[in-house]
Amino acid sequence: MSLEPLFTEAQIQNKVEEMAARIQADYGDEPILLVGVLKGSLYFIADLSRRLGPNTRVDFVQVSSYAGRKESSGVVQIRKDLDINIEDVNVIIVEDIVDTGLTLTHLRELLSTRRPKTLRVASLLSKPDARLHQTQIEYVGFEIPNAFVVGYGLDYAEAFRNLPFVAILSEDA
Ligand code: IMP
Ligand code: MG
Repeated sequence: MSLEPLFTEAQIQNKVEEMAARIQADYGDEPILLVGVLKGSLYFIADLSRRLGPNTRVDFVQVSSYAGRKESSGVVQIRKDLDINIEDVNVIIVEDIVDTGLTLTHLRELLSTRRPKTLRVASLLSKPDARLHQTQIEYVGFEIPNAFVVGYGLDYAEAFRNLPFVAILSEDA
């Protein structure tokens, strides 16, 4: 297996700052709740939340659809639900990457039944060519080609999450 760098640590940090500025411009002093999707959003939500104002709360959900493989099983399960009641709350779902869109479609549906005040999505990465389920992403960091990437929270079988940069993982023949 080999790693081909895609975004450097500095490029990622600049992008996160840019995304925080856009969110700040949209919400002003309104309180917001960032909902991180575990575990991939770990570093993104940590960096993004620290660039937002004091009226920012953080909570997490964990869903599963991949289970140690590179392909989705097509089934989304909630493994850890929110701690915070989101009724009448400005919610931003924070994702590492949107691939087929399956996870986000289900999550948006589930959270919207709880009647948040607003519901948006911020994803650091998006693979538009891989989309099977159309879903809205209000804040996108980088659009990337349909390759398997790791680092900055993204894993392959739980490895590589802690890389400070994002790289394409390819299996050498
Ligand atoms: P989707 O449901 O197909 O959109 O996939 C969403 C989830 O799959 C993401 O939150 C990631 O956890 C995982 N995933 C999708 N593409 C990649 C990738 O290239 N590298 C690592 N994880 C990925
Ligand atoms: Mg994820």
